[in-house]
Amino acid sequence: MKVFRESEIKVYISMVIKPIAPVLLFVLLQYSSAKVVTYNVLSFGANANGFIDSTTAFLNVWNLSCASTNPAIIYVPKGRYLISSELTFSGITCKSKAIRFNIDGTLVAPSNTYNALGNTEVWIKLYRANNVTISGGILDANGTPLWNCKSSGKKTCPRGATTFGIYHSQNIVISNMKSLNSQMFHIIIYACNNTKLEGVNISAPGLSPNTDGIHLMNSKDVTILNSKISTGDDCISIGPGNSNVWIEKVVCGPGHGISIGSLGWEEKEAGVQNVTVKNATLIGSQNGLRIKTWARRSNGFVKDVVFQHASMENVRNPIIIDANYCPHKQKCPNQVTGVKISNVVYEDVYGTSATRVAVKFDCKKGKPCTGIRLKDVNLQYEGQPAESFCSYVDGTASGYVI
Ligand SMILES: *[C@@H]1O[C@H](CO)[C@@H](O)[C@H](O)[C@H]1NC(C)=O
Ligand SMILES: *[C@@H]1O[C@H](CO)[C@@H](O)[C@H](O)[C@H]1NC(C)=O
Ligand SMILES: *[C@@H]1O[C@H](CO)[C@@H](O)[C@H](O)[C@H]1NC(C)=O
Ligand SMILES: *[C@@H]1O[C@H](CO)[C@@H](O)[C@H](O)[C@H]1NC(C)=O
Ligand SMILES: *[C@@H]1O[C@H](CO)[C@@H](O)[C@H](O)[C@H]1NC(C)=O
Ligand SMILES: *[C@@H]1O[C@H](CO)[C@@H](O)[C@H](O)[C@H]1NC(C)=O
Repeated sequence: MKVFRESEIKVYISMVIKPIAPVLLFVLLQYSSAKVVTYNVLSFGANANGFIDSTTAFLNVWNLSCASTNPAIIYVPKGRYLISSELTFSGITCKSKAIRFNIDGTLVAPSNTYNALGNTEVWIKLYRANNVTISGGILDANGTPLWNCKSSGKKTCPRGATTFGIYHSQNIVISNMKSLNSQMFHIIIYACNNTKLEGVNISAPGLSPNTDGIHLMNSKDVTILNSKISTGDDCISIGPGNSNVWIEKVVCGPGHGISIGSLGWEEKEAGVQNVTVKNATLIGSQNGLRIKTWARRSNGFVKDVVFQHASMENVRNPIIIDANYCPHKQKCPNQVTGVKISNVVYEDVYGTSATRVAVKFDCKKGKPCTGIRLKDVNLQYEGQPAESFCSYVDGTASGYVI
Protein backbone atom coordinates (compact mmCIF):
# COMPACT_ATOMS: atom_id res chain seq x y z
CA MET A 1 0.00 0.00 0.00
CA LYS A 2 1.31 3.40 -0.93
CA VAL A 3 1.56 5.83 1.99
CA PHE A 4 1.00 9.48 1.09
CA ARG A 5 3.18 12.09 2.70
CA GLU A 6 1.51 15.23 4.02
CA SER A 7 2.99 17.33 1.22
CA GLU A 8 1.61 14.94 -1.38
CA ILE A 9 -1.89 15.17 0.15
CA LYS A 10 -1.69 18.97 0.12
CA VAL A 11 -0.74 18.92 -3.54
CA TYR A 12 -3.59 16.52 -4.26
CA ILE A 13 -6.13 18.77 -2.51
CA SER A 14 -4.92 21.93 -4.20
CA MET A 15 -4.60 20.37 -7.65
CA VAL A 16 -7.54 18.01 -7.76
CA ILE A 17 -10.15 18.84 -5.14
CA LYS A 18 -10.02 22.66 -5.23
CA PRO A 19 -10.75 23.10 -8.93
CA ILE A 20 -13.70 20.73 -8.81
CA ALA A 21 -15.05 21.86 -5.42
CA PRO A 22 -17.60 24.28 -6.89
CA VAL A 23 -18.79 21.52 -9.19
CA LEU A 24 -19.11 19.07 -6.30
CA LEU A 25 -21.04 21.64 -4.27
CA PHE A 26 -23.30 22.38 -7.23
CA VAL A 27 -24.02 18.70 -7.79
CA LEU A 28 -24.77 18.22 -4.10
CA LEU A 29 -27.11 21.22 -4.05
CA GLN A 30 -28.83 20.05 -7.22
CA TYR A 31 -29.30 16.67 -5.66
CA SER A 32 -30.73 18.01 -2.42
CA SER A 33 -32.93 20.55 -4.21
CA ALA A 34 -34.40 17.69 -6.26
CA LYS A 35 -35.60 16.06 -3.07
CA VAL A 36 -39.24 15.13 -3.47
CA VAL A 37 -41.63 16.63 -0.94
CA THR A 38 -44.86 14.87 -0.09
CA TYR A 39 -47.97 16.69 1.07
CA ASN A 40 -50.91 14.81 2.53
CA VAL A 41 -54.20 16.63 1.90
CA LEU A 42 -55.41 15.64 5.38
CA SER A 43 -52.73 17.92 6.86
CA PHE A 44 -54.29 20.83 4.98
CA GLY A 45 -57.80 20.48 6.32
CA ALA A 46 -59.23 18.06 3.76
CA ASN A 47 -61.94 15.91 5.26
CA ALA A 48 -62.36 12.27 4.25
CA ASN A 49 -65.96 11.87 5.43
CA GLY A 50 -67.57 13.07 2.19
CA PHE A 51 -69.70 15.77 3.84
CA ILE A 52 -67.35 18.63 4.66
CA ASP A 53 -66.10 20.52 1.64
CA SER A 54 -62.43 19.96 0.82
CA THR A 55 -62.05 22.26 -2.19
CA THR A 56 -59.92 24.87 -0.40
CA ALA A 57 -57.69 22.23 1.16
CA PHE A 58 -56.92 20.77 -2.30
CA LEU A 59 -56.19 24.25 -3.66
CA ASN A 60 -53.86 25.03 -0.77
CA VAL A 61 -51.88 21.84 -1.28
CA TRP A 62 -51.64 22.51 -5.00
CA ASN A 63 -50.43 26.08 -4.40
CA LEU A 64 -47.76 24.91 -2.03
CA SER A 65 -46.59 22.10 -4.35
CA CYS A 66 -46.58 24.44 -7.29
CA ALA A 67 -44.59 27.12 -5.46
CA SER A 68 -41.98 24.62 -4.30
CA THR A 69 -38.85 24.25 -6.40
CA ASN A 70 -38.78 20.57 -5.41
CA PRO A 71 -40.78 17.97 -7.24
CA ALA A 72 -43.89 17.38 -5.16
CA ILE A 73 -46.23 14.53 -4.41
CA ILE A 74 -49.76 15.27 -3.30
CA TYR A 75 -51.16 12.31 -1.43
CA VAL A 76 -54.89 11.73 -1.07
CA PRO A 77 -55.57 8.86 1.35
CA LYS A 78 -58.60 6.56 1.23
CA GLY A 79 -61.92 8.24 1.93
CA ARG A 80 -64.48 10.46 0.27
CA TYR A 81 -63.70 14.14 -0.30
CA LEU A 82 -66.51 16.51 -1.12
CA ILE A 83 -65.53 18.98 -3.85
CA SER A 84 -68.59 21.16 -4.08
CA SER A 85 -67.32 23.80 -6.48
CA GLU A 86 -65.03 24.22 -9.44
CA LEU A 87 -61.49 23.08 -8.60
CA THR A 88 -58.82 24.40 -10.98
CA PHE A 89 -55.18 23.46 -10.58
CA SER A 90 -53.44 26.23 -12.45
CA GLY A 91 -49.82 25.79 -13.43
CA ILE A 92 -49.27 29.36 -14.58
CA THR A 93 -47.04 30.40 -11.70
CA CYS A 94 -45.57 26.98 -10.88
CA LYS A 95 -41.88 26.72 -10.02
CA SER A 96 -42.01 22.99 -9.46
CA LYS A 97 -40.54 20.81 -12.22
CA ALA A 98 -43.01 18.02 -11.61
CA ILE A 99 -46.12 17.41 -9.53
CA ARG A 100 -47.62 14.03 -8.91
CA PHE A 101 -50.96 13.15 -7.32
CA ASN A 102 -51.21 9.74 -5.68
CA ILE A 103 -54.88 9.27 -5.01
CA ASP A 104 -56.36 6.41 -3.00
CA GLY A 105 -59.60 8.27 -2.30
CA THR A 106 -62.74 9.37 -4.12
CA LEU A 107 -63.56 12.98 -4.99
CA VAL A 108 -67.32 13.46 -4.89
CA ALA A 109 -69.64 16.15 -6.17
CA PRO A 110 -72.70 17.10 -4.10
CA SER A 111 -75.17 14.24 -4.49
CA ASN A 112 -78.50 15.94 -3.80
CA THR A 113 -78.33 18.88 -6.18
CA TYR A 114 -76.94 19.77 -9.58
CA ASN A 115 -77.09 23.48 -8.87
CA ALA A 116 -73.62 23.69 -7.33
CA LEU A 117 -71.85 22.53 -10.50
CA GLY A 118 -74.53 22.58 -13.20
CA ASN A 119 -73.37 25.83 -14.76
CA THR A 120 -69.66 25.18 -14.26
CA GLU A 121 -67.82 24.25 -17.42
CA VAL A 122 -65.40 21.81 -15.81
CA TRP A 123 -65.55 20.42 -12.28
CA ILE A 124 -61.87 19.49 -11.83
CA LYS A 125 -59.37 21.05 -14.18
CA LEU A 126 -55.65 21.10 -14.89
CA TYR A 127 -54.89 24.43 -16.55
CA ARG A 128 -51.62 25.49 -18.18
CA ALA A 129 -49.81 22.76 -16.30
CA ASN A 130 -46.61 21.00 -17.29
CA ASN A 131 -45.24 17.66 -16.06
CA VAL A 132 -48.18 16.56 -13.95
CA THR A 133 -48.98 12.94 -13.18
CA ILE A 134 -52.19 11.76 -11.57
CA SER A 135 -52.25 8.19 -10.43
CA GLY A 136 -55.34 6.48 -9.04
CA GLY A 137 -58.47 8.09 -7.72
CA ILE A 138 -62.18 7.99 -8.42
CA LEU A 139 -64.08 11.07 -9.54
CA ASP A 140 -67.78 10.68 -8.81
CA ALA A 141 -69.82 13.55 -10.23
CA ASN A 142 -73.21 12.21 -9.10
CA GLY A 143 -74.89 13.06 -12.40
CA THR A 144 -78.24 11.37 -11.72
CA PRO A 145 -80.25 14.44 -10.54
CA LEU A 146 -79.18 16.42 -13.62
CA TRP A 147 -79.96 13.55 -16.04
CA ASN A 148 -83.38 13.24 -14.41
CA CYS A 149 -83.96 16.95 -14.90
CA LYS A 150 -82.94 16.70 -18.57
CA SER A 151 -85.03 13.63 -19.28
CA SER A 152 -88.10 15.14 -17.60
CA GLY A 153 -88.11 17.63 -20.49
CA LYS A 154 -87.74 20.67 -18.21
CA LYS A 155 -86.30 23.62 -20.11
CA THR A 156 -84.49 25.09 -17.12
CA CYS A 157 -81.94 22.34 -16.49
CA PRO A 158 -78.36 23.59 -16.59
CA ARG A 159 -75.93 22.17 -19.12
CA GLY A 160 -73.85 20.31 -16.56
CA ALA A 161 -70.13 20.22 -15.82
CA THR A 162 -67.50 18.12 -17.52
CA THR A 163 -65.94 16.03 -14.76
CA PHE A 164 -62.25 16.39 -15.56
CA GLY A 165 -60.51 18.70 -18.02
CA ILE A 166 -56.91 19.07 -19.09
CA TYR A 167 -56.52 22.47 -20.79
CA HIS A 168 -53.49 24.08 -22.45
CA SER A 169 -51.14 21.65 -20.77
CA GLN A 170 -48.14 19.60 -21.70
CA ASN A 171 -46.58 16.31 -20.54
CA ILE A 172 -49.51 15.04 -18.53
CA VAL A 173 -49.97 11.40 -17.48
CA ILE A 174 -53.20 10.10 -15.97
CA SER A 175 -53.23 6.48 -14.88
CA ASN A 176 -55.62 4.12 -13.13
CA MET A 177 -58.23 6.76 -12.54
CA LYS A 178 -62.00 6.19 -12.68
CA SER A 179 -64.72 8.63 -13.63
CA LEU A 180 -68.25 7.81 -12.54
CA ASN A 181 -71.57 9.37 -13.54
CA SER A 182 -70.44 12.63 -15.06
CA GLN A 183 -73.07 15.36 -15.52
CA MET A 184 -71.80 16.05 -19.06
CA PHE A 185 -68.55 14.77 -20.61
CA HIS A 186 -66.30 12.69 -18.37
CA ILE A 187 -62.92 13.92 -19.65
CA ILE A 188 -61.83 16.68 -22.05
CA ILE A 189 -58.32 17.13 -23.38
CA TYR A 190 -58.16 20.61 -24.86
CA ALA A 191 -55.18 22.28 -26.61
CA CYS A 192 -52.60 19.97 -25.02
CA ASN A 193 -49.31 18.44 -26.13
CA ASN A 194 -48.23 15.00 -25.04
CA THR A 195 -50.98 13.60 -22.89
CA LYS A 196 -51.21 9.98 -21.85
CA LEU A 197 -54.20 8.25 -20.29
CA GLU A 198 -53.63 4.70 -19.16
CA GLY A 199 -56.07 2.38 -17.37
CA VAL A 200 -58.52 5.25 -17.07
CA ASN A 201 -61.97 3.74 -16.77
CA ILE A 202 -65.26 5.48 -17.27
CA SER A 203 -68.72 4.51 -16.24
CA ALA A 204 -72.21 6.00 -16.62
CA PRO A 205 -75.51 4.41 -17.71
CA GLY A 206 -76.13 3.87 -21.44
CA LEU A 207 -79.04 6.31 -21.33
CA SER A 208 -77.32 9.18 -19.51
CA PRO A 209 -77.42 12.21 -21.86
CA ASN A 210 -74.24 13.79 -23.34
CA THR A 211 -71.88 11.80 -21.15
CA ASP A 212 -69.07 11.42 -23.72
CA GLY A 213 -66.17 9.44 -22.31
CA ILE A 214 -63.02 11.18 -23.53
CA HIS A 215 -63.23 14.16 -25.86
CA LEU A 216 -60.16 15.51 -27.65
CA MET A 217 -59.88 19.03 -29.07
CA ASN A 218 -56.90 20.78 -30.71
CA SER A 219 -54.39 18.42 -29.14
CA LYS A 220 -51.24 16.76 -30.33
CA ASP A 221 -49.70 13.45 -29.23
CA VAL A 222 -52.49 11.90 -27.23
CA THR A 223 -52.22 8.28 -26.08
CA ILE A 224 -55.12 6.35 -24.58
CA LEU A 225 -54.29 2.81 -23.44
CA ASN A 226 -56.10 0.03 -21.67
CA SER A 227 -59.33 1.78 -20.86
CA LYS A 228 -62.81 0.50 -20.28
CA ILE A 229 -65.53 2.96 -21.16
CA SER A 230 -69.27 2.48 -20.61
CA THR A 231 -71.34 5.60 -21.08
CA GLY A 232 -74.31 7.35 -22.73
CA ASP A 233 -72.56 9.01 -25.67
CA ASP A 234 -69.31 8.55 -27.64
CA CYS A 235 -66.75 6.49 -25.72
CA ILE A 236 -64.02 8.55 -27.34
CA SER A 237 -64.65 11.54 -29.61
CA ILE A 238 -61.91 13.19 -31.61
CA GLY A 239 -62.91 16.74 -32.48
CA PRO A 240 -61.20 19.27 -34.77
CA GLY A 241 -57.48 20.01 -34.64
CA ASN A 242 -56.10 16.75 -33.26
CA SER A 243 -53.04 14.96 -34.57
CA ASN A 244 -50.90 11.97 -33.61
CA VAL A 245 -53.55 10.18 -31.59
CA TRP A 246 -52.86 6.61 -30.46
CA ILE A 247 -55.69 4.56 -28.95
CA GLU A 248 -54.99 0.97 -27.96
CA LYS A 249 -56.92 -1.72 -26.07
CA VAL A 250 -59.99 0.31 -25.37
CA VAL A 251 -63.22 -1.50 -24.51
CA CYS A 252 -66.37 0.47 -25.34
CA GLY A 253 -70.01 -0.24 -24.54
CA PRO A 254 -72.61 0.78 -23.89
CA GLY A 255 -71.84 3.98 -25.75
CA HIS A 256 -71.83 5.54 -29.19
CA GLY A 257 -68.46 4.13 -30.22
CA ILE A 258 -65.05 5.51 -31.04
CA SER A 259 -65.69 8.54 -33.20
CA ILE A 260 -63.73 11.02 -35.21
CA GLY A 261 -66.01 14.04 -35.21
CA SER A 262 -68.32 15.54 -35.39
CA LEU A 263 -66.41 17.79 -37.76
CA GLY A 264 -67.25 20.44 -40.30
CA TRP A 265 -69.70 22.58 -38.37
CA GLU A 266 -67.40 25.55 -38.91
CA GLU A 267 -66.35 26.61 -42.39
CA LYS A 268 -62.76 27.20 -41.22
CA GLU A 269 -61.75 24.32 -39.06
CA ALA A 270 -58.50 22.57 -38.17
CA GLY A 271 -58.27 19.03 -39.51
CA VAL A 272 -57.70 15.64 -37.88
CA GLN A 273 -54.59 13.76 -38.87
CA ASN A 274 -52.67 10.59 -37.97
CA VAL A 275 -55.04 8.62 -35.76
CA THR A 276 -54.43 4.96 -34.87
CA VAL A 277 -57.01 2.82 -33.11
CA LYS A 278 -55.69 -0.64 -32.29
CA ASN A 279 -57.25 -3.63 -30.54
CA ALA A 280 -60.54 -1.94 -29.75
CA THR A 281 -63.40 -4.04 -28.41
CA LEU A 282 -66.92 -2.74 -28.96
CA ILE A 283 -69.79 -4.37 -27.14
CA GLY A 284 -73.44 -3.49 -27.73
CA SER A 285 -72.52 0.03 -28.77
CA GLN A 286 -74.47 2.21 -31.18
CA ASN A 287 -71.43 2.59 -33.46
CA GLY A 288 -68.07 0.92 -33.71
CA LEU A 289 -65.46 2.87 -35.63
CA ARG A 290 -67.09 6.06 -36.83
CA ILE A 291 -66.23 9.22 -38.74
CA LYS A 292 -69.03 11.81 -38.62
CA THR A 293 -69.06 15.11 -40.47
CA TRP A 294 -71.71 17.71 -41.26
CA ALA A 295 -72.75 18.29 -44.87
CA ARG A 296 -71.67 21.93 -44.86
CA ARG A 297 -68.99 23.82 -46.69
CA SER A 298 -65.72 23.35 -44.75
CA ASN A 299 -61.98 23.39 -45.25
CA GLY A 300 -61.65 20.69 -42.55
CA PHE A 301 -60.22 17.26 -43.25
CA VAL A 302 -59.61 13.80 -41.83
CA LYS A 303 -56.57 11.94 -43.11
CA ASP A 304 -54.20 9.10 -42.28
CA VAL A 305 -56.37 6.99 -40.01
CA VAL A 306 -55.74 3.33 -39.16
CA PHE A 307 -58.29 1.09 -37.47
CA GLN A 308 -56.58 -2.23 -36.83
CA HIS A 309 -57.74 -5.37 -34.98
CA ALA A 310 -61.21 -4.46 -33.80
CA SER A 311 -63.69 -6.87 -32.31
CA MET A 312 -67.43 -6.12 -32.53
CA GLU A 313 -70.17 -7.72 -30.53
CA ASN A 314 -73.71 -6.79 -31.46
CA VAL A 315 -72.77 -3.29 -32.65
CA ARG A 316 -75.38 -1.33 -34.62
CA ASN A 317 -72.98 0.37 -37.09
CA PRO A 318 -69.63 -1.41 -36.78
CA ILE A 319 -67.90 0.60 -39.54
CA ILE A 320 -69.37 3.92 -40.57
CA ILE A 321 -68.40 7.13 -42.32
CA ASP A 322 -71.35 9.46 -42.07
CA ALA A 323 -70.76 12.63 -44.07
CA ASN A 324 -74.42 13.55 -43.63
CA TYR A 325 -74.20 13.74 -39.86
CA CYS A 326 -77.27 15.38 -38.36
CA PRO A 327 -78.18 13.65 -35.11
CA HIS A 328 -81.60 15.17 -34.51
CA LYS A 329 -82.57 15.14 -38.19
CA GLN A 330 -83.77 18.71 -37.93
CA LYS A 331 -82.58 21.54 -40.19
CA CYS A 332 -79.93 19.23 -41.66
CA PRO A 333 -77.55 21.25 -43.85
CA ASN A 334 -77.60 18.64 -46.69
CA GLN A 335 -75.06 20.44 -48.87
CA VAL A 336 -73.19 18.42 -51.52
CA THR A 337 -69.88 19.26 -49.90
CA GLY A 338 -68.27 18.77 -46.49
CA VAL A 339 -65.04 17.67 -44.86
CA LYS A 340 -62.37 15.94 -46.99
CA ILE A 341 -61.87 12.35 -45.80
CA SER A 342 -58.89 10.43 -47.15
CA ASN A 343 -56.53 7.55 -46.44
CA VAL A 344 -58.49 5.51 -43.91
CA VAL A 345 -57.54 1.87 -43.32
CA TYR A 346 -59.74 -0.78 -41.70
CA GLU A 347 -57.77 -3.94 -41.06
CA ASP A 348 -58.86 -7.09 -39.23
CA VAL A 349 -62.29 -5.98 -38.09
CA TYR A 350 -64.49 -8.90 -37.07
CA GLY A 351 -67.55 -9.90 -35.07
CA THR A 352 -71.26 -9.28 -35.13
CA SER A 353 -73.43 -6.43 -36.30
CA ALA A 354 -76.82 -5.68 -34.76
CA THR A 355 -78.10 -4.43 -38.12
CA ARG A 356 -78.02 -5.79 -41.68
CA VAL A 357 -75.71 -3.03 -42.99
CA ALA A 358 -72.45 -3.37 -41.08
CA VAL A 359 -70.25 -1.22 -43.29
CA LYS A 360 -71.58 2.15 -44.36
CA PHE A 361 -69.63 4.78 -46.27
CA ASP A 362 -71.97 7.69 -46.92
CA CYS A 363 -69.77 10.39 -48.47
CA LYS A 364 -70.46 13.57 -50.45
CA LYS A 365 -70.46 14.05 -54.21
CA GLY A 366 -68.58 17.34 -53.86
CA LYS A 367 -65.92 15.78 -51.58
CA PRO A 368 -65.79 12.01 -52.14
CA CYS A 369 -63.98 9.86 -49.58
CA THR A 370 -60.70 8.67 -51.10
CA GLY A 371 -58.11 6.05 -50.20
CA ILE A 372 -60.52 4.00 -48.09
CA ARG A 373 -58.94 0.55 -47.70
CA LEU A 374 -60.50 -2.56 -46.22
CA LYS A 375 -58.44 -5.60 -45.40
CA ASP A 376 -59.70 -8.73 -43.64
CA VAL A 377 -63.11 -7.54 -42.57
CA ASN A 378 -65.53 -10.20 -41.40
CA LEU A 379 -68.80 -8.97 -39.93
CA GLN A 380 -71.87 -11.16 -39.50
CA TYR A 381 -75.53 -10.28 -39.01
CA GLU A 382 -77.76 -13.02 -37.56
CA GLY A 383 -75.27 -15.68 -38.61
CA GLN A 384 -75.08 -14.43 -42.22
CA PRO A 385 -72.53 -12.17 -43.87
CA ALA A 386 -73.62 -8.57 -43.28
CA GLU A 387 -74.11 -6.00 -46.06
CA SER A 388 -72.42 -2.77 -46.97
CA PHE A 389 -73.52 0.59 -48.35
CA CYS A 390 -71.25 2.92 -50.33
CA SER A 391 -71.83 6.35 -51.75
CA TYR A 392 -69.06 8.49 -53.32
CA VAL A 393 -66.25 6.41 -51.92
CA ASP A 394 -63.08 5.32 -53.60
CA GLY A 395 -60.61 2.76 -52.35
CA THR A 396 -59.70 -0.92 -52.25
CA ALA A 397 -60.62 -4.15 -50.52
CA SER A 398 -58.16 -6.97 -49.97
CA GLY A 399 -57.75 -10.17 -47.99
CA TYR A 400 -61.12 -11.68 -47.16
CA VAL A 401 -63.76 -9.00 -46.91
CA ILE A 402 -67.15 -10.36 -45.98
C1 LIG B 1 -53.64 29.65 -5.03
O1 LIG B 1 -52.83 30.47 -5.87
C2 LIG B 1 -53.56 31.26 -6.77
C3 LIG B 1 -52.60 31.94 -7.72
O2 LIG B 1 -51.30 31.91 -7.29
C4 LIG B 1 -54.40 32.26 -5.99
O3 LIG B 1 -55.16 33.03 -6.88
C5 LIG B 1 -55.32 31.50 -5.06
O4 LIG B 1 -56.03 32.40 -4.24
C6 LIG B 1 -54.55 30.54 -4.19
N1 LIG B 1 -55.53 29.71 -3.51
C7 LIG B 1 -55.45 29.39 -2.23
C8 LIG B 1 -56.56 28.59 -1.68
O5 LIG B 1 -54.50 29.75 -1.56
C1 LIG C 1 -40.56 18.85 -17.18
O1 LIG C 1 -39.71 17.72 -16.98
C2 LIG C 1 -38.59 17.74 -17.85
C3 LIG C 1 -37.87 16.43 -17.71
O2 LIG C 1 -38.02 15.87 -16.46
C4 LIG C 1 -37.72 18.94 -17.53
O3 LIG C 1 -36.63 18.98 -18.38
C5 LIG C 1 -38.56 20.21 -17.71
O4 LIG C 1 -37.81 21.34 -17.32
C6 LIG C 1 -39.83 20.16 -16.89
N1 LIG C 1 -40.67 21.30 -17.24
C7 LIG C 1 -41.03 22.20 -16.34
C8 LIG C 1 -41.88 23.33 -16.84
O5 LIG C 1 -40.73 22.14 -15.18
C1 LIG D 1 -47.60 22.72 -27.88
O1 LIG D 1 -46.56 22.77 -28.83
C2 LIG D 1 -46.67 23.89 -29.72
C3 LIG D 1 -45.65 23.73 -30.81
O2 LIG D 1 -44.52 23.09 -30.39
C4 LIG D 1 -46.52 25.17 -28.91
O3 LIG D 1 -46.64 26.27 -29.75
C5 LIG D 1 -47.60 25.21 -27.86
O4 LIG D 1 -47.43 26.33 -27.02
C6 LIG D 1 -47.56 23.96 -27.00
N1 LIG D 1 -48.72 23.95 -26.10
C7 LIG D 1 -48.63 23.81 -24.78
C8 LIG D 1 -49.90 23.81 -24.04
O5 LIG D 1 -47.56 23.69 -24.22
C1 LIG E 1 -59.53 -0.33 -16.14
O1 LIG E 1 -59.87 -1.47 -16.91
C2 LIG E 1 -58.77 -2.22 -17.33
C3 LIG E 1 -59.31 -3.37 -18.15
O2 LIG E 1 -60.01 -2.91 -19.24
C4 LIG E 1 -57.99 -2.75 -16.15
O3 LIG E 1 -56.83 -3.39 -16.63
C5 LIG E 1 -57.59 -1.57 -15.26
O4 LIG E 1 -56.98 -2.05 -14.08
C6 LIG E 1 -58.82 -0.77 -14.87
N1 LIG E 1 -58.42 0.42 -14.11
C7 LIG E 1 -59.02 0.78 -12.99
C8 LIG E 1 -58.55 2.04 -12.36
O5 LIG E 1 -59.92 0.14 -12.50
C1 LIG F 1 -48.27 9.56 -35.92
O1 LIG F 1 -48.55 9.51 -34.53
C2 LIG F 1 -47.73 8.62 -33.83
C3 LIG F 1 -48.18 8.65 -32.37
O2 LIG F 1 -49.53 8.36 -32.29
C4 LIG F 1 -46.28 9.01 -33.94
O3 LIG F 1 -45.49 8.05 -33.29
C5 LIG F 1 -45.90 9.09 -35.41
O4 LIG F 1 -44.59 9.58 -35.51
C6 LIG F 1 -46.85 10.03 -36.12
N1 LIG F 1 -46.54 10.00 -37.56
C7 LIG F 1 -46.30 11.11 -38.22
C8 LIG F 1 -46.03 10.94 -39.67
O5 LIG F 1 -46.28 12.22 -37.68
C1 LIG G 1 -54.28 -7.19 -30.84
O1 LIG G 1 -55.12 -8.05 -31.58
C2 LIG G 1 -54.40 -8.97 -32.40
C3 LIG G 1 -55.41 -9.70 -33.25
O2 LIG G 1 -56.51 -10.12 -32.50
C4 LIG G 1 -53.61 -9.90 -31.51
O3 LIG G 1 -52.86 -10.79 -32.31
C5 LIG G 1 -52.66 -9.08 -30.67
O4 LIG G 1 -52.00 -9.90 -29.75
C6 LIG G 1 -53.44 -8.00 -29.89
N1 LIG G 1 -52.50 -7.16 -29.25
C7 LIG G 1 -52.59 -6.90 -27.95
C8 LIG G 1 -51.52 -5.99 -27.42
O5 LIG G 1 -53.48 -7.32 -27.25
